[in-house]
Amino acid sequence: MAKSAENTPVPLAILISGRGSNMTALIEAGRAEGCPYEVVLVASNNPDAAGLAIARDAGIPTFAHSHKGLSREDFDAIIDGALRKAGVRYVALAGYMRILSEAFVTGWAGHMLNIHPSLLPRYKGLDTHGRAIAAGDPEGGCSVHLVTPTLDDGEVIAQAAVPILPGDTPETLAQRVLVEEHRLYPEALATYIRTHG
Ligand code: GRF
Repeated sequence: MAKSAENTPVPLAILISGRGSNMTALIEAGRAEGCPYEVVLVASNNPDAAGLAIARDAGIPTFAHSHKGLSREDFDAIIDGALRKAGVRYVALAGYMRILSEAFVTGWAGHMLNIHPSLLPRYKGLDTHGRAIAAGDPEGGCSVHLVTPTLDDGEVIAQAAVPILPGDTPETLAQRVLVEEHRLYPEALATYIRTHG
């Protein structure tokens, strides 16, 4: 059935650096009837990212360019060019292991989201699960947030928590949180896009 103009999904790009399990969840959800976004591009700073092959197998156009030897600004301008050329309206960071330049973040303000594996504002940056376990926290989790120039600092739009169990290691906790990430990210992104257009 043809979709009316107001039901046309908005074009989304996903930026990855690695295995792309959140990317896969976003692609699958984007194909469901009524989803407000459609994944039109997967881009990476790592030409060897495993997620690129998964995206290609799913029929999604990909763009890969190594950041090596480029300034942050010059590299981000290359990514920005690929996104603009693809007509992208929203950007989802999914395991994208690059600090973004201020110009890039400003250019996508309000249109770029990230998933972070902690209950923000706790544990910005790396080793989130190890730090949560070491602190004796009763819960770990993940957060979907808007991207601003300061790392992992933008407005949180959705969170999911999981209990930290006796004997948990960073790896076992990460696995349990990842299940929640795959559920939370597509849902939070869809809600955000439905609200903001
Ligand atoms: C996820 O834990 C995500 O929260 C973090 O990096 C990891 C990426 O995993 N930002 P994947 O590439 O989506 O499998």
